[in-house]
Amino acid sequence: MARPLQGKTALVTGASRGIGRAIAERLASDGALVAVHYGKNQAAARETVEAITGAGGGAFAIGSDLAAKDGVKTLYDAFDTAVQARTGSNRFDILVNNAAIAPFATFEDTTEAVLDEIYTVNVKSPFFITQEGAKRLNDGGRVVFISSGVVRTPFPDVAAYSALKAPLDNLVKTLGVVLGPRSITVNAVSPGATATDMGAFLQDPAMAEAVKSQQALKRIGKADDVADVVAFVASSDARWVTGQVIEASGGTTLTF
Ligand SMILES: NC(=O)c1ccc[n+]([C@@H]2O[C@H](COP(=O)([O-])OP(=O)(O)OC[C@H]3O[C@@H](n4cnc5c(N)ncnc54)[C@H](OP(=O)(O)O)[C@@H]3O)[C@@H](O)[C@H]2O)c1
Repeated sequence: MARPLQGKTALVTGASRGIGRAIAERLASDGALVAVHYGKNQAAARETVEAITGAGGGAFAIGSDLAAKDGVKTLYDAFDTAVQARTGSNRFDILVNNAAIAPFATFEDTTEAVLDEIYTVNVKSPFFITQEGAKRLNDGGRVVFISSGVVRTPFPDVAAYSALKAPLDNLVKTLGVVLGPRSITVNAVSPGATATDMGAFLQDPAMAEAVKSQQALKRIGKADDVADVVAFVASSDARWVTGQVIEASGGTTLTF
């Protein structure tokens, strides 16, 4: 089996569950050593690591609550120690900013506390994870942000979440320019509704039918539909793609 990421090290935030877990498993099956980051769910992160190592890949878990004040420092303290023990250096090649929260709250119901937490986990943390990560990334590396189709297709039940995904689509353009001289590409992959814990609303048959009817491809998206696109962006085949937002949504915006 081809292992195009052999010798590379990747950090995937929010890899205990859902899309992040699928990304971690896919990058590991492509040969990367993967840091499986989690927030609260250590047992789930352990399951991700066991799935990877059981399939012959390399992975380790690192915990850090990205809603906490020192979340980014905690993440890199754990990452540096763990990766150094395995590779002799804290340098790495692929950063995937995936961890996020999406509490259901309409515009009218969104409190300052809810908005602040979404901002901290979904915008501020990936910003500083990337700033700190860029010091460790090898030239030719990859940064991938997981955005969302709600930037273009409003979903009023998650008003603040939608608004606070938009900054990532902008950030990839700035960072594409900033990191380009080092041949580091920076892109966003933008899923549509995907069957994960965050996409639990898809378990409602009426909601699932409504979503399918809005897509060109008439089925519910799965975590590995998104992970496979991230794997492409992380690969050398995508070396000439930077500053882009790549939608992985079954063609949601085609039919609106
Ligand atoms: N599912 C969808 O329909 C959908 C659609 C568009 C975009 N997206 C995006 O895709 C990405 C993954 O979503 P998902 O559906 O896989 O979500 P999910 O199943 O809810 O998983 C979220 C992940 O983020 C981590 N996380 C949440 N809060 C955290 C915190 N405070 N500190 C550290 N880690 C934290 C979780 O860690 P723990 O397990 O430790 O809590 C978990 O690994 C997100 O960026 C999301 O916005 C999802």
